[in-house]
Amino acid sequence: APQNVPMSRLEKDKFINYQRIEDNLAIVRKRLNRPLTLSEKVVYGHLDDAANQEIVRGQSYLNLRPDRVICQDATAQMAILQFMSAGLPEVACPSTVHCDHLILAENGSESDLARAKEINGEVYNFLATSSAKYGLGFWKPGSGIIHQIVIENYAFPGALIIGTDSHTPNAGGLGSVAVGVGGADAVDVMVGLPWELKCPKNIGVKLTGSLNGWTSPKDIILEVAGILTVKGGTGAIVEYFGPGVDTLSATGMGTICNMGAEIGATTSLFPYTDRMGKYLRATGRPEIAQASASFANNLRADEGAQYDQLIEINLSELEPRINGPFTPDLMTPVSKMKETAKKNDWPEKLHVGLIGSCTNSSYEDMTRAANIAKEALDAGLKVKSGFTITPGSEQIRATTERDGILETFRKAGGVVMANACGPCIGQWARHDVKKGEKNSIITSYNRNFTGRNDGNPATHAFIGSPEIVTALAFSGQLTFNPMTDTITTPDGKPFKFTPPFGDELPIKGFDAGENTYQAPPEVRSAVDVEVKPDSQRLQLLTPFKPWNGKDYKDSRVLIKVKGKCTTDHISMAGPWLKYRGHLENISNNMLIGAINIENGEANNVKNQETGEWGAVPAVAQAYRDSGISWVVIGDENYGEGSSREMAAMSPRFLGGVAIIVKSFARIHETNLKKQGMLPLTFTDPKDYDKVDPTDKVSILGLDTFAEGKPLTVRLEKQNGETVEFPVNHTFNPNQIKWFKAGSALNEIAKNVAA
Ligand code: F3S
Repeated sequence: APQNVPMSRLEKDKFINYQRIEDNLAIVRKRLNRPLTLSEKVVYGHLDDAANQEIVRGQSYLNLRPDRVICQDATAQMAILQFMSAGLPEVACPSTVHCDHLILAENGSESDLARAKEINGEVYNFLATSSAKYGLGFWKPGSGIIHQIVIENYAFPGALIIGTDSHTPNAGGLGSVAVGVGGADAVDVMVGLPWELKCPKNIGVKLTGSLNGWTSPKDIILEVAGILTVKGGTGAIVEYFGPGVDTLSATGMGTICNMGAEIGATTSLFPYTDRMGKYLRATGRPEIAQASASFANNLRADEGAQYDQLIEINLSELEPRINGPFTPDLMTPVSKMKETAKKNDWPEKLHVGLIGSCTNSSYEDMTRAANIAKEALDAGLKVKSGFTITPGSEQIRATTERDGILETFRKAGGVVMANACGPCIGQWARHDVKKGEKNSIITSYNRNFTGRNDGNPATHAFIGSPEIVTALAFSGQLTFNPMTDTITTPDGKPFKFTPPFGDELPIKGFDAGENTYQAPPEVRSAVDVEVKPDSQRLQLLTPFKPWNGKDYKDSRVLIKVKGKCTTDHISMAGPWLKYRGHLENISNNMLIGAINIENGEANNVKNQETGEWGAVPAVAQAYRDSGISWVVIGDENYGEGSSREMAAMSPRFLGGVAIIVKSFARIHETNLKKQGMLPLTFTDPKDYDKVDPTDKVSILGLDTFAEGKPLTVRLEKQNGETVEFPVNHTFNPNQIKWFKAGSALNEIAKNVAA
């Protein structure tokens, strides 16, 4: 395997470890004795212990060693705060932080960015100083969107990357296995623990034929989403192969992998192609291009590799499509939009077309969209709907500015936004419609759930390629078919677009633009991490107390939850997101969405000590402050949804000791263990019915807490009677250490101190 190739231009001292892939695969091949898919090669190539790891697709939990951790600014705050409490001098794995989520799009890039720096100044400052102190690369606000920066600078064929953002799979366009994770996973890897992933299943997508005319890579993933639906990729890596792959640019493949998140896939991935080499060279990484070309045998599937599911798409026959509204898997070919919109009563007038984002702002995307915009401009046309452009990175902005592309958009009536997520994550101060007013918009983004872009549940958001979005913006109609329809020019003539044409890469090379990167300094000990004691947005973490060696006695039932309880019920998002770096403030949302079985209401529980009713977080706090511990009783699949670590931190912070349920979503269960909580399950699910909200709950057997050995719950009823039953747990010996130390990070800190 090629040696001594730096992983990135920005970290010359960190090298690509193809040797490990080769060594691991030699072991795994002997053990499995069958052809391997590409995803298997890259994933198993990063096993922590290839010789002893159990490997069953869809079943085993793999311990992996990622090459890199990437964090966006919203999720980085708590991840770094947690990292700090482990007491390590620097991150154990190359890591970067990207300021892209907190910038509100309103009037255009300059003023929006200036305001974001003002509003989020202390968060940016914390992220900048903590990155400097602990050795993370820091990308300032204005640098661009995390996934675009990663494909430009950090992704490489065969890499294993984890990122605290769901569209991390974008890096699959450069052949990386890149997985979106929660903050807790990022912290594990930053402190040097292996990262755990359920061994993915593999879905193969065979591409034949070649793209042509109006069809773009976006249409491939819109088609795949239509076939597999939003749940179809769950637990699987979607792997593309076949002759059609060679007709795609690296950034086009990035678009496809990015939006693979919309079908629930663990990630998506392409084999090494010459187009990847071309992109690597164009972005200043010729050594990586060379190394991966010579390692290409390991960067494609073996002949005869078996997939759990196989799909075939003929690109030559693929027509552009538009997906939506409200869900990314509702697919309509452009030519069918007229009848479909009518049938469903979707607003046919288009209010805004939005292009760019992490999904679709490559040079190729921008030039194809500008190409048709120029044609329409030359015919005397301007956009009839609103039109915004979000460059994915400063490099893309500077290059497209230099090459006149942004000027074309502006002349057409477009507004160029900051290099940031903006409307894609709902950071959009939209003024053209009122809340509740039914309207249509179309974006080249990836997600279109209700209210996602503008917080208006009546907005019908559709998704298409940048060139389709641009064409529709000129027509002002959702139902316009640029392949057949015409627009009337100011002098009364019919204008018809010719199929778009773009440049895969800039002929004059990329212009890096303004330098927005902050490398960690050589000497870091003197760096002060800034967190003001009275800050409302940031708060240093105080380590949770270690277990006191005794059984938990006479805890209160904070809430007996009825029915579904997802991480959204436990730790709501929306307006709470601004407190993502402040455990105390964000804990005021704890369990406010869960339904209390006692009264059928959300966020109203009885303080069993005082008899008064109150909000869940307030009652929890009252118990804690009077030295009374509490438990939650829950139903099936408790904690399903996202991997958000707050859902485990807040209960612990507010004095909870155990969550006792019929069953857990596994990630949440692990997160609870990491925070020093006891996630327990009823051995007999019917025991759920034995618990009354007025009971006092004791958890017995902790002095002999051991793997595989159930604990006992004793209920003391109001009338003094007691009821006992066993409860199960899934702690292993290492996790029992976390419990005893008070949290996983406490356990690590202990070892650092020793
Ligand atoms: Fe940002 Fe939207 Fe991408 S939120 S990271 S631009 S999916």
